[in-house]
Amino acid sequence: MSSSEEAKAWQVGIWDRKSQNYLQETDKRFAPVVEQVLDRSDLETGQSVLDLGTGTGSVAIEAARIVGEGGDVTGLDISADMLAVAEGRLMDEINLVFRLGSAEEIPAVDGSFHVVLASLSMMYVIDRAAAAREIARVLRPGGRFVAAVWAGPDDCDIVKFQTAAGAFAPKPPVEGVGPGSLADVLPFQAQLLDAGIDTEVETEELGFDYDTFELAWEVLSAVTTANLEPERVEEAKRAVQAAMWPNGEGPLHFRNVTQFIVGNKS
Ligand SMILES: C[S@@+](CC[C@H](N)C(=O)[O-])C[C@H]1O[C@@H](n2cnc3c(N)ncnc32)[C@H](O)[C@@H]1O
Repeated sequence: MSSSEEAKAWQVGIWDRKSQNYLQETDKRFAPVVEQVLDRSDLETGQSVLDLGTGTGSVAIEAARIVGEGGDVTGLDISADMLAVAEGRLMDEINLVFRLGSAEEIPAVDGSFHVVLASLSMMYVIDRAAAAREIARVLRPGGRFVAAVWAGPDDCDIVKFQTAAGAFAPKPPVEGVGPGSLADVLPFQAQLLDAGIDTEVETEELGFDYDTFELAWEVLSAVTTANLEPERVEEAKRAVQAAMWPNGEGPLHFRNVTQFIVGNKS
């Protein structure tokens, strides 16, 4: 396996495992981000929309409702297990398809979409320059791009939590990928501009709650620490709890500054 195949397999494995409780524990917490991505997308009836890194399909399903039967939505993801969960949510949407594929190699012809959306997915894309070129290629002239990405650990508790837990995990096969990897959005904005999409960044403080540390640990760290020895897991838990839960237990509000990268193809 080449190093890029190994990196992609690692990323797919993370999301396949996360799919198990994403619908139950993560969808509701990410709902304000999804809503704000859709608010900024200016969707209109009859448009063609691509939801990149669709996960369990929250953005795609709502977008399909907005564009109506005269429009169409494609939800694309590298994780077959996430897509299986998304498929399971479908009711009678005839204008929505979920497809396996990556942002770096979008399976669509040039100029296919009026709008490309990417809610909390671009941070995990391994080759973001390729993704920027692909987003520009599949957008029509004047087409809109909206992505949501987390801020850095000082402003975004979910990134703080995962950075603290990730310090105990084995070294990942690729650098620069993970929840806080687009805290500095400028390099990605430059890649988008090179590809023909001029963007601005709008910032919002959003958030969600966990009733207990144990629940947050189960949801956010199970994948990161899946291959650690049990004593190492305990050490990681204690370190994250100390960093995040100053009182040890009880409910905690996560304050997550979220950055929206918004622009149009020239
Ligand atoms: C945090 S989830 C976000 C899911 C959904 N958009 C949401 O807002 O709830 C990130 C998603 O990005 C997908 N992903 C990661 N790298 C990708 C890539 N290179 N191309 C397409 N999807 C990717 C993952 O499989 C995962 O489903």
